[in-house]
Amino acid sequence: MTLAQYKNAIEQSNIVSKTDIDGIITFANDEFCKIFEYSREELIGKNHNIVRHPDVPKETFKTLWDTILSKKTYKGTVKNLSKYGKTLYVNTTVIPILNKNGYIEEFIAIRYDVTQSIELARQIQEKDRFLFQQSRLAAMGEMIGNIAHQWRQPLNELGITVYQMKKFFLSDKNKGEFMRSYDHSKDVIKKMSDTIEDFRNFFNPNKIKKSFLVKDAIKELLRLMQGSIQKHRLHVDVIYEKELSIYGHINEFTQVLLNLINNSKDAYNQRNLQNRNIKIVVGEDDKKNLELIYRDNAKGIDKDIIDKIFDPYFTTKHSSQGTGLGLYMGEMIIKKSMNGDIKVHSDDKGATFKITIPTSREMEK
Ligand SMILES: Nc1ncnc2c1ncn2[C@@H]1O[C@H](COP(=O)(O)OP(=O)(O)O)[C@@H](O)[C@H]1O
Ligand SMILES: [Mg+2]
Repeated sequence: MTLAQYKNAIEQSNIVSKTDIDGIITFANDEFCKIFEYSREELIGKNHNIVRHPDVPKETFKTLWDTILSKKTYKGTVKNLSKYGKTLYVNTTVIPILNKNGYIEEFIAIRYDVTQSIELARQIQEKDRFLFQQSRLAAMGEMIGNIAHQWRQPLNELGITVYQMKKFFLSDKNKGEFMRSYDHSKDVIKKMSDTIEDFRNFFNPNKIKKSFLVKDAIKELLRLMQGSIQKHRLHVDVIYEKELSIYGHINEFTQVLLNLINNSKDAYNQRNLQNRNIKIVVGEDDKKNLELIYRDNAKGIDKDIIDKIFDPYFTTKHSSQGTGLGLYMGEMIIKKSMNGDIKVHSDDKGATFKITIPTSREMEK
């Protein structure tokens, strides 16, 4: 291959430009003109910052110039702007060309357009964020149901107590009883406000990831879900074979388990089953990851849908009951946020979910 052929090959397949040491454009190939929507005449003699995108922070250009002025090659993905306002992402390599005395003579920039793949990645990210919020709302809805359940009893109690206070007040002789009822009311109110505090913690998206004990997360979740666990007569049995910590957002992790329990509950109810046993085993696999086995006895998941249960919006429930986002989000949380894995297995007795997550000890290495 001759040098000319080589040059030709690069120019045919890339976006190529040259500038002098001050950044003034001295050359632009056809691809450059086409993608940035300028004619060659409009480019030659202009500063290369003509294609700058206003979003790009000054520091980026400082890094670029620092690099190339110290005679090193710069590589990066740069956001650019075309003449008519099109945003373009280009993988850019800027190479300083030195003369025989070792001084920079000019810069050559070779780019290729990666706008489409960046846009696609951005769209996927946006969609994920949207789904995440939706599923969080669904989880919140479930939790509000739990609060309502846990409030029902103390609210009744309060109603009765207030009524008694009125009676004691009117009968005059019962000042002592009146005060006792008053104190009792205060206790009940305190308990109700503690419940809110508990749930607030669950709703708060914790910003930072940290290590937490799997046992603590499960205990907390079961405590919060106590209301619906009782209401639906679920027997949740947890076996801790080992004390393990994992790393992540504790609320995300409990959200995954919350959905598993709610799915079992729905299956029991739909199928009108009386015997409702859920078993959770917290142990370690042979690679020393957390291995959490979740098993119910709600007669399992149909063969023809089991491949779809992790898909977004896949649900077999009425739209007021299911969003189809629970397992999708669960998988996202376990895989993307916690670096783990979730698998399902089912037979005619029930469904089994196996969650594996690297333990904190492993992460710290
Ligand atoms: N333990 C289970 N037993 C039977 N079917 C289940 C179980 N868990 C999940 N499924 C099925 O998987 C579907 C998707 O679950 P999920 O993603 O949590 O969405 P949703 O609960 O909103 O329907 C459910 O609609 C149900 O058909
Ligand atoms: Mg669900």
